[in-house]
Amino acid sequence: MAERRTAPEIKIAADNAALNLMAVQEFCLCAAGGNTPRAVYSLLAATQKNLRWDKIYIFFGDERHVPPEHPDSNYRMANESLLAQVSLPAKNIYRVRAELDAKVAAQEYEDQLREFFQLQDIRLQNNDWPRFDLILLGLGDDGHTASLFPGSSALEENTRMVVANWVKKFNEYRITFTFPVINQSAEVMFLVSGAGKSQTLKDVLSPVGTNAYPAQRIQPENGRLLWMVDQPAAKLL
Ligand code: 6PG
Repeated sequence: MAERRTAPEIKIAADNAALNLMAVQEFCLCAAGGNTPRAVYSLLAATQKNLRWDKIYIFFGDERHVPPEHPDSNYRMANESLLAQVSLPAKNIYRVRAELDAKVAAQEYEDQLREFFQLQDIRLQNNDWPRFDLILLGLGDDGHTASLFPGSSALEENTRMVVANWVKKFNEYRITFTFPVINQSAEVMFLVSGAGKSQTLKDVLSPVGTNAYPAQRIQPENGRLLWMVDQPAAKLL
């Protein structure tokens, strides 16, 4: 049965540089991984030194199952391009300890969320989910977001906040937020750049569809859904 989705807000920037600037002006956050945010983080560090960084808490929506010094680490990317460049107190940065066993790292991160947001309910029956001010996400060519990949078990998770998700195509675990956490946030901002993403972006944003792509299931229950894309990525819209 085709589902009708809430109309997302789409902001199109002329090019990648304009996209990065537009994203900086929309900021305080849960960090995304991948490559697209790196330039935004660097621009933030360069242009927002006076931001009240002591009021900002950084969490990671997903992490690769690697130690923090590994080149694939989302923490390393964010730290090098932003976190180490601004006066953000170390206690405000919540890194996924992805050097641990993936399931242990996911449970530990979930416990940290529960403590940070002072959540009571262990099994979340009472909708006692954390509410982020802003969650920054990317879009993979296969329509994945965070580490919610097509065909992976985390897609059906609705009682956990953070899980270790086995990703067949990479033959590895990823640690990722689940849909309920992302859809409880006050704002979700997708950052999509480059012509290589144009077909997936068109499909994901089609107003009617069967939620075939994980990114289509990002539907904030009571929040803003904002797509920030550059012209090459938007060429088929
Ligand atoms: C990750 C991400 C992932 C990413 C997309 C887009 O850890 O890889 O969280 O969801 O956002 O794969 O990645 P790019 O920005 O590199 O295209």
